[in-house]
Amino acid sequence: MTAEKIYILAIESSCDDTSAAVLCNTKVLSNVVATQEIHKQYGGVVPELASRAHQQNIVPVVHQALAKANIDKKQLSAIAFTRGPGLMGSLLVGTSFAKSLALGLNIPLIEVNHMEAHILAHFIEDDDMRAPEFPFLGMTISGGHTQIVKVNHYFDMEILGETLDDAVGEAFDKSAKLMGLPYPGGPLVDKYAREGNPEAFAFPKPKVEELNFSFSGLKTSILYFLQRETKKNPDFIAENIKDICASVQKTILDILMDKLHLAVQQTGIKQVAIGGGVAANSGIRARLKNAEERLGWKTYIPKFSYCTDNAGMIGIVGYLKFLEGTFTDQTVAAKARYAIGS
Ligand code: KG4
Ligand code: ZN
Repeated sequence: MTAEKIYILAIESSCDDTSAAVLCNTKVLSNVVATQEIHKQYGGVVPELASRAHQQNIVPVVHQALAKANIDKKQLSAIAFTRGPGLMGSLLVGTSFAKSLALGLNIPLIEVNHMEAHILAHFIEDDDMRAPEFPFLGMTISGGHTQIVKVNHYFDMEILGETLDDAVGEAFDKSAKLMGLPYPGGPLVDKYAREGNPEAFAFPKPKVEELNFSFSGLKTSILYFLQRETKKNPDFIAENIKDICASVQKTILDILMDKLHLAVQQTGIKQVAIGGGVAANSGIRARLKNAEERLGWKTYIPKFSYCTDNAGMIGIVGYLKFLEGTFTDQTVAAKARYAIGS
């Protein structure tokens, strides 16, 4: 790597978090995230409200990121931004802002694929993290994504499987909603599950080919199960919340782990790196640790702040592209559907 200091300002606005980060080479100097609270009252992200909130947040968030890093915008080497995939209105805000700033400062512009960034977040230099060695399997699990990718090198990735309907985070959140828990319910399901019996109730696992996932059927079976039980006992949910959460979480984690085992078996790669908001789940962390001990896997989980949507992960991709000299011209447009490697 180069001895020169490269400063990247990174912008992320693909969903409901407005984020800006400043990196010096592989180190994150600041990583500011403004989470849009407005969506809580609707029980999910409202795209129209998200783009408006991005427009309000973006300038203050970028100012904060520069101030926290103690970097003047004149010191910046390049601007990296999320081009896609994501919500179009949200992406447009970050894309337009990044283009204008790069033009104004007369520095290079670097487009970043959000899904590649979730995976390359592992390469941020941090005392609490270690970087995986190539090749490795990357599994991105969040409210918007569920994907297993074979990572041969930084920009040589192959999608092995992905969800055909809901993302795994949605499965957590929608199940939680059925139990009357507030959005986003994933962390609460995790919390209750820790004290519950995962074998208390059984939910069917979907039969999906190869390395793809499906979570919409699980939501329906939980709905029918709860309707049936509350008819017999109106207090069923309140009385059994811990066991229900533990059983739901076990089913979701079984689905994820079954696919990971299959991916390891098919590729012969035992290095597994996960990311995305659901990587915070205590159950998945325990399962991966267990696979390390029992099966000799090597597993990697980034710090939580680099798991959820954040500009730090956009910045590390920006830096890697800067080293390669891969820049983007001013005619670039946001891309709502944007597959890895396309
Ligand atoms: O990466 P993220 O912040 O945003 C998206 O790109 O979606 O992920 C948010 C998702 C939500 O669905 C949330 O419920 C889930 O991650 N989540 C969890 C946990 N913490 C966050 N799910 C299960 N257990 C957790 N501890
Ligand atoms: Zn994401």
